[in-house]
Amino acid sequence: MRHKLLLLLLNATALLLSTVSGQYENIPYQSVTDICTTCVCISTKDDNNRVHYTLNCAMKNFEHILARWPTDFGTQHTGTEIVASYSGNNIRLLQQLPATTAAVTFSCRHCGIQQLQAPFFMDVPNVEALYLSWNEIADDALKPELFRGPFNSTKYEPIALKDLDLSHNRIARLDRKLFEHTPQLRKLNLASNKLSVLDNATTAALAAIPNLQRLDLSYNQMVTLPIDLFPPLHSLHILDISGNEFAVVPATIRQLSKSLQQLNLAYNPLAKIDAHSFRQLDALRRLNISNLPMLRSIELGALQLPALEQLHCAHNPKLENFEFADLLASRNLTLLDISQNALTTLALNVSGNSTATTWPRLRSLAIAGNPWYCSCELFNTLELAGAPQVLQSQETLARCTTPYLLAGTPLTNLTAERICNMVIPKKYQPVEDDPPRFLRRRYIILTVIIASVVVVAGLIIGFIVVCVRRRLKGNEYGVQPIRYTSVRGSNLSAFSQLQPVSVTSKFGNPAGAGGAGTTGAPNA
Ligand SMILES: *[C@@H]1O[C@H](CO)[C@@H](O)[C@H](O)[C@H]1NC(C)=O
Ligand SMILES: *[C@@H]1O[C@H](CO)[C@@H](O)[C@H](O)[C@H]1NC(C)=O
Ligand SMILES: *[C@@H]1O[C@H](CO)[C@@H](O)[C@H](O)[C@H]1NC(C)=O
Ligand SMILES: *[C@@H]1O[C@H](CO)[C@@H](O)[C@H](O)[C@H]1NC(C)=O
Ligand SMILES: *[C@@H]1O[C@H](CO)[C@@H](O)[C@H](O)[C@H]1NC(C)=O
Ligand SMILES: *[C@@H]1O[C@H](CO)[C@@H](O)[C@H](O)[C@H]1NC(C)=O
Ligand SMILES: *[C@@H]1O[C@H](CO)[C@@H](O)[C@H](O)[C@H]1NC(C)=O
Repeated sequence: MRHKLLLLLLNATALLLSTVSGQYENIPYQSVTDICTTCVCISTKDDNNRVHYTLNCAMKNFEHILARWPTDFGTQHTGTEIVASYSGNNIRLLQQLPATTAAVTFSCRHCGIQQLQAPFFMDVPNVEALYLSWNEIADDALKPELFRGPFNSTKYEPIALKDLDLSHNRIARLDRKLFEHTPQLRKLNLASNKLSVLDNATTAALAAIPNLQRLDLSYNQMVTLPIDLFPPLHSLHILDISGNEFAVVPATIRQLSKSLQQLNLAYNPLAKIDAHSFRQLDALRRLNISNLPMLRSIELGALQLPALEQLHCAHNPKLENFEFADLLASRNLTLLDISQNALTTLALNVSGNSTATTWPRLRSLAIAGNPWYCSCELFNTLELAGAPQVLQSQETLARCTTPYLLAGTPLTNLTAERICNMVIPKKYQPVEDDPPRFLRRRYIILTVIIASVVVVAGLIIGFIVVCVRRRLKGNEYGVQPIRYTSVRGSNLSAFSQLQPVSVTSKFGNPAGAGGAGTTGAPNA
């Protein structure tokens, strides 16, 4: 009896929901007749005899998707794959997909989508990937019913969705239950949305994706990450939080110590990276800490990452301090990019063994674009790392900045042997004790002396000139005033009068469009 009542209730709600979704019923679909003459339809078979259908309706000025799959694709889709693209059309409302049992990949990028008809996948339970980036999808368009599968006796079946791309939309928060029908979701891209604050519901929605492996939250103006986001995400391998407003490495990342393999922190205002920043990230293989405009220091102990294979730490214009020796913990290091920073030296404190056993797998070391101080220490370190073999060919751009004697010399032209045995003449030797201040004082004294010499000389010359003039006047040898009247009418005079005009018209643009033109010289 109770059972029947429950069924009745469920039926009633289903009916109610169907009337709610019925609001879009009268909206037409794109006509499907001869569709393969408008769109591109391709069917291929792979090595395993699996049939792949491709439907490419990109940029056809459609306002709706097709009501059915093209007849060319047959009627039996089980075991096949359909890849459908409607990208670049003008589809404001994305209607329910036509029924199929094929594994579907559906994309509609740059479609201007604002609304999605729920349930979108009711007849497509095997949808695997949905790419809806670059649309106008906002919070209210993303309801849990959207991902509901077919109804089966007492509940909705889950759908097979594994890959969801919602980047470049207008999402500020997610419904707490948004992903309750997509337990297989592995890859979620929410980059370039408005998720600046992950509220409780959004956090709960993300934390409820049990098999999530890749999460992209880049370019969302986030300042912090909630502490209850990561603990349930045991499978998260790849996390991208680049392009946000993190001033410190979010502490909650450490909760991913067992699983996290790739981390992207680029384009954040991080000021420093310290020994706690990446602590316990023992599975981390690839780390991107490039393009950090505020980063000055990577402190001792920060980069002791045993599994690290690739480190991208480039284009950090203020980075002066980098504890190179920390990387000795990463025996599997294959790629190291520390180019375009503000580094002057690298120190490895390995006594004795100068064989390239430091990083046996290192294949690529990029160091160009740093103001290197070419010392014995730097060259010993580079050779321990396997230079010059590991340096890339474009590394001819890596040059010494100091000492003066070697300024501009490519690092590849020098060897540790040569530098360490080189006797730098005394006048080129760097003065260790605050050289700029010393130099400045010296220059000031020099300037004062030169200035006083000039002033005294000027006074003497002026005195002599006055004396000579007086004497000439006294002797009545005064010069007669010269008349220029005869020259006035000539071309020469006209030219000399015109010239200033043409010069001002060329360079003195008063409108300000070329305002830098006249003041450019002193600035440069
Ligand atoms: C419906 O549910 C039953 C039991 O839960 C299951 O055996 C059956 O395979 C399901 N049918 C579909 C089409 O998923
Ligand atoms: C969010 O969750 C935290 C604890 O998980 C709770 O203290 C807080 O009150 C919640 N905020 C809202 C708005 O529900
Ligand atoms: C590091 O991340 C930034 C931002 O996502 C990206 O532009 C850059 O290509 C990445 N670098 C590497 C080497 O992957
Ligand atoms: C280094 O790589 C080898 C083989 O790829 C792997 O077995 C080993 O666990 C790695 N070492 C660390 C510390 O991850
Ligand atoms: C290098 O290591 C030795 C001992 O192994 C230590 O005495 C010395 O201070 C270290 N130097 C630097 C610069 O870390
Ligand atoms: C130097 O190499 C020898 C043998 O190759 C090794 O036993 C020793 O531990 C190494 N010393 C250092 C400091 O790496
Ligand atoms: C670097 O070495 C190459 C050949 O070994 C030589 O042709 C070149 O002039 C050197 N460059 C400088 C700046 O010394």
